[in-house]
Amino acid sequence: MLAEVLRHLQPRPGDVVVDATLGGGGHARRLLEAVHPGGRLIALDVDPIERPRTEALLRREGFDTDVLRVHGRSFAELPDVLTEEHVAGADVILVDLGVSAMQHDTASRGFSYKLPGPLDLRMNPSLGEPASALVARTSAGALAAILREHADEPQAEIIATTIKQHVIETTHGLDRVLRIALARVQPPLAKAEVKRSVRRSFQALRIAVNDEFAALDTLLRVLPACLAPGGRVAIITFHSGEDNRVERAFRDGYEAGVYDAIAHDPVRSEKAETFSNRRAAAARLRWGRKRC
Ligand SMILES: C[S@@+](CC[C@H](N)C(=O)[O-])C[C@H]1O[C@@H](n2cnc3c(N)ncnc32)[C@H](O)[C@@H]1O
Repeated sequence: MLAEVLRHLQPRPGDVVVDATLGGGGHARRLLEAVHPGGRLIALDVDPIERPRTEALLRREGFDTDVLRVHGRSFAELPDVLTEEHVAGADVILVDLGVSAMQHDTASRGFSYKLPGPLDLRMNPSLGEPASALVARTSAGALAAILREHADEPQAEIIATTIKQHVIETTHGLDRVLRIALARVQPPLAKAEVKRSVRRSFQALRIAVNDEFAALDTLLRVLPACLAPGGRVAIITFHSGEDNRVERAFRDGYEAGVYDAIAHDPVRSEKAETFSNRRAAAARLRWGRKRC
């Protein structure tokens, strides 16, 4: 999505740019190059494990504190961060939702059903509760609602009921229980369908554990106030629950005259990229431009 991001955000030398989801710094690096000379990038990420690593990497590449500012804050707090940075409105804001490759591929973070680890799924492991605790204290009915509302999971009820019949502490433990649940479905599910349900279940729990929709809803509400007149924002989403929210917020903002241009259709990735082709294929980018 790098080419698509740069095409729609058009960062220019001197711009103040926000990368609201720093991750591994891939987008940040390209944005920093594009705003040189005279520009700067304000980066946010809630992950206290990966954020310092990415910051150290970018510092080693020569981006010092007058061009790159890094905050361990949620993008829901973007207005406060901009106030601290004495920025009235950013020229460009990028939001790349979901998990980073480093988070996903680190077994101890518990993000992947393929890797053995604790069932955690938190982007900030010092905040809130791990997914194992959420699953243990949540009723079958509430779990089914999480699976339906956060991931459109068609087998939500049977999965939730089966989960409540087990004690689940690990990623592989959840994977095993999900497969027990899905084996009960009649008529039997195809192997690919089982895999999709497992993936969706992990996604639904991750969204719940990190309260991701609440953070996104807050960001969408405060975005116009965070942009300079003529400022551009791009948001990359990975599933319909996120994309519907972004689409609605941009459409409402456009109709209200807050944005003078928006993406009427989501932009899809032109070529398969980094950590998995599946992730790149699922990515949808929407953009908006604040009225001058
Ligand atoms: C898909 S990755 C970003 C990848 C990044 N664009 C890159 O080029 O490497 C998403 C990042 O957003 C972070 N994140 C998730 N929710 C957040 C929030 N509410 N506020 C700030 N960062 C968040 C995650 O910790 C993760 O590092």
